[in-house]
Amino acid sequence: MIRAAITAVGHFLPEDRLTNQDLEQMVDTSDEWIRVRTGIRERRILRDPTKATSYMAARAAQEVLQKRGIEPEEIDLIIVATVTPDMFFPATACLVQRDIGARRAWGFDLSAACSGFLFALATGAQFIASGQHQKVLVIGADKMSAITDYTDRRTCVLFGDAAGAVLLEPALDSEVGIMDMCLYCDGSGAEALCMPGGGSLNPPSYKTIDAKMHFLYQDGPTVFKRAVEGMADVAAEIMARNGLSGEDVAYLVPHQANWRIIEATARRMGIGREKVMVNIDRYGNTTAATIPLCLYDWEARLKRGDNLILASFGAGYTWGAIYLRWAYDGTRVGFGMESEAQLSAS
Ligand code: ACO
Repeated sequence: MIRAAITAVGHFLPEDRLTNQDLEQMVDTSDEWIRVRTGIRERRILRDPTKATSYMAARAAQEVLQKRGIEPEEIDLIIVATVTPDMFFPATACLVQRDIGARRAWGFDLSAACSGFLFALATGAQFIASGQHQKVLVIGADKMSAITDYTDRRTCVLFGDAAGAVLLEPALDSEVGIMDMCLYCDGSGAEALCMPGGGSLNPPSYKTIDAKMHFLYQDGPTVFKRAVEGMADVAAEIMARNGLSGEDVAYLVPHQANWRIIEATARRMGIGREKVMVNIDRYGNTTAATIPLCLYDWEARLKRGDNLILASFGAGYTWGAIYLRWAYDGTRVGFGMESEAQLSAS
């Protein structure tokens, strides 16, 4: 069986920071409330109105190409996980393809909100496992500021803008790569976390604008209860299925929606804080970008063979976990992918 392995990681973060102190000036909130309830201190915002999700996704993709040392023409497939596409159509993946010059690629968008990156990674891995493709770009990107109501304190403190991207390639040995996945959805939670306007059910009108239906809506406490259970359960499930104990796990790579959800998941897995990737304090919830952003921030510390558990919960509801063994040491891109002969020749 061909395993898909992540062979490079890239990212894009807008420069502009929106701090808790900035938000104190905008809505009735406090730095303390936000930090204690969510763990967030600041988030990044793409303020340039001429730039959108595809811009961030393409920058993250270019960093992947540059780190892996490959040309855009080598990409077979581009999958963009997002709930904030530049437009309903064409797909953001097509805009990324054009921007980076991936002449041979096809691509599509995938909508699974905060679980989008995991669902896209699982999808991309199938094209590698089948032998159909050699190089698949999987991107998680969201410009959440475009659908956030900055007069609603319940949601505007939570979200940020960013993109993260990885390259999937066939692993040359069975010791590394994506080992297992558990993915779920349950539409009974659709109304608890959604953007009700703009689609075919509630097309844009003065009425939908007046009712603020083009902004993200969330029933926070309802989603919180399901997220705590869902993310912890699925992480425990994938560990049990693969005979992993807390000691075997090098890192939990969780979706960054709320520090309390992450903590509950880590407790259930039997791992300490030092094994949990957390950057929610700096970026907030960037929806599909959170997991690749964590991989980017921790990449230099990762070792070939490290057992990682990626876990998420989001709108839909959608949730899941992926178990993978990391394929290279530090940022030495390609380690373990090529033969030693190829490496020494390069
Ligand atoms: N500042 C100050 N007070 C606030 C704020 C704020 N920013 N927001 C809400 N409050 C108030 C509420 O009005 C409420 O006041 P009341 O008791 O007087 O009515 C009180 O604080 C408690 O509000 P809750 O909503 O119950 O607060 P909670 O502890 O649940 O935290 C939060 C809210 C952070 C949103 C939490 O519910 C959460 O993390 N939910 C899950 C988020 C998640 O995982 N989403 C899925 C991924 S996102 C995606 O898929 C796009």
